[in-house]
Amino acid sequence: MTRITVCMGSSCFARGNNRNLELILEYLQKRGLKGKVDIKGALCEGRCNQGPNIVVDGTVYSDVKPVSVVALLDHHFASAGPDRS
Ligand code: FES
Repeated sequence: MTRITVCMGSSCFARGNNRNLELILEYLQKRGLKGKVDIKGALCEGRCNQGPNIVVDGTVYSDVKPVSVVALLDHHFASAGPDRS
C-alpha cells in the first residue's frame, strides 16, 4: 500500500496542493490505483517555505507544482512496479 500525504496547511494549500490533490485523485482514479493508495491530508509541517510539500512512502517532495505532480506519481509507480500492493 502506497501512502501519500498532502500538506493541507494554508501555505502549501494555497501555493498548489489544492490543485495537486485533485490531480492525484484523478490520477489514481484513471489508473485504477485507488484501492492501493492510502491518501490523506496533513497539517502544516513547518516546511512552508519549501512547499507545496507532498510525502510519498516517506519521501518528502518539496516545491511540487501541479505541472509536475503527474511525473512525480509516474516515477513513483514505475519504480514501485505494477504488482506492488
Ligand atoms: S503549510 Fe505545508 S509545511 Fe506549512
